[in-house]
Amino acid sequence: MGLQISPSILSADFAHLAAECQAVSGHADWLHVDVMDNHFVPNLTLGLPVVESLLAAVDTPVDCHLMIADPDRWAPAYAEAGAGSVTFHIEAAHAPIRLAREVRRLGARAGMGLKPATPVEPYADMLCEIDMLLLMTVEPGFGGQSFLDFVVPKIRRARELIAGRDVDVWLQVDGGVDLRTISLCAEAGANVFVAGSSVYGTGDPADAIDKLRAAATAAVGAGP
Ligand code: DX5
Ligand code: ZN
Repeated sequence: MGLQISPSILSADFAHLAAECQAVSGHADWLHVDVMDNHFVPNLTLGLPVVESLLAAVDTPVDCHLMIADPDRWAPAYAEAGAGSVTFHIEAAHAPIRLAREVRRLGARAGMGLKPATPVEPYADMLCEIDMLLLMTVEPGFGGQSFLDFVVPKIRRARELIAGRDVDVWLQVDGGVDLRTISLCAEAGANVFVAGSSVYGTGDPADAIDKLRAAATAAVGAGP
C-alpha cells in the first residue's frame, strides 16, 4: 500500500458537500468524514443520514472518523451504510475487539483511534484485530489546530509495533497535517494522511492534495 491522502471535509463548505467532494475526486484516496456528537468531543458535526447521502453522491471511498461516545452502539451502522473504513476511539469503546470484528463483518475496514495523550503500547496485542491505527496529532474536536510535535515519536513506536507483527495495519495521522508536518509523519512511518484546512482552506483542493502527496513521497524517499 502506498501513501494515501484522506482530505477532511470538516473544512469544506457544508452547504455544497457533494461539489466539495467531487472537487477532489481522482486526487483523494478517501474522503475523511468527521462525526462528532458533542459528548466525546465538544463539537457537533454530522451523522449517519448525511453520510448515507454522501455515499450515494460520491465515488471516492468514505473514511468515517467517529468522535462519539458509545461507538459500540453507533459504529456498525456506518459500516452497514457502505463506508469503506470506520474508525472508533479506543477511549470511548466499551468492547473494542467485539466492535472491530463487527465493523469488519459488515464489510468495512476497522480503524482504532487514539487521542494524543493515549499511549499506543497497551494496545499492541490488538493490532491483529484492526485494519488501521489512527494517531491524532491534535486534540480531536476541531479543524485548523496546530500539529502536536510530541506525537511524532509515538508514530515511530507504532510503526515499529506494526512491523514486529504479521499484520498489515495502516497508520493514519489526523490534525494539523500540512506541507511541513506531513514530512515528519511520513518519515516516522505514517502512511495515511488526513488533511482538512491544508486542503479545503486553499483555493485548489485537488492541487493541495497532489502537493501533500508529493511532500510525503519525497520524505519517505529520503529515508531515515
Ligand atoms: C479533528 C478532526 C480532523 C480535522 C483535521 O478532530 O478529526 O479530521 O478535520 O483538520 P486540520 O487538518 O485542519 O487539522
Ligand atoms: Zn478526523
